[in-house]
Amino acid sequence: MRRPMVAGNWKMHGTRASVAELINGLGQLALPSGVDVAVFPPCLHINQVIDGLKGLPIQVGAQNAAVQAQQGALTGEIAPSQLVDAGCTLVLVGHSERRQIMGEQDGTLIRKFAAAQACGLIPVLCVGETLEQREAGKTLEVVGRQLGCIIEDLGVGVFAQAVIAYEPVWAIGTGLTASPQQAQDVHAAIRAQLAAENSEVAQGVRLLYGGSVKAANAVELFGMPDIDGGLIGGASLNADEFGAIIRAAGN
Ligand code: 13P
Repeated sequence: MRRPMVAGNWKMHGTRASVAELINGLGQLALPSGVDVAVFPPCLHINQVIDGLKGLPIQVGAQNAAVQAQQGALTGEIAPSQLVDAGCTLVLVGHSERRQIMGEQDGTLIRKFAAAQACGLIPVLCVGETLEQREAGKTLEVVGRQLGCIIEDLGVGVFAQAVIAYEPVWAIGTGLTASPQQAQDVHAAIRAQLAAENSEVAQGVRLLYGGSVKAANAVELFGMPDIDGGLIGGASLNADEFGAIIRAAGN
């Protein structure tokens, strides 16, 4: 059985004061023991969050990291090894906002994925299609390519130490959620693509769904056989709502 995971991507939100409030709220949650919980604050707040969550079973990750594992001359970037030093265990790779707004391409993402793993960070590879691609019937082709480039370059075995998040771009921050069946179909295709190379890796890897997940729709989504939890944006900024989503994954 795969252990469910619920992760909160705080994106570019927060001040020292609002982060302190959120940490306080997270500290008061009754967390189910069967769910892995993680948060991805902005890098600026990672130290504050790690200090504030000390002793709680909540992992902390970064939303992005450099293409090279070790520190060096790379202005404006943060090395995976520096994230490990700070106490991070996870890093997002290829969130659609970075693909679309920051222009990150497959080649860069392959390097980021490998650099993260070289330091022992667990990469959370984000994949997903735009509305235009979905309407053109290209969802599985697009997601298959985003996943395929990592498999081709690094080998399927890397997914023994990684997580995949399917986040349809049209469902992110829009209030539109993929239906449980729409999400399940893509998750099943992702698992099948991995299984074609290595069935053990495919069965073990956690596939999270992201895109307008709330407490109100989480139970149904997490009830699908290939959905192993969620990557939560807006709703993770509210500790009570995030807690309810975590409990949904524990049921
Ligand atoms: P929302 O939950 O705000 O739609 O964001 C999803 C997301 O992008 C998480 O990475």
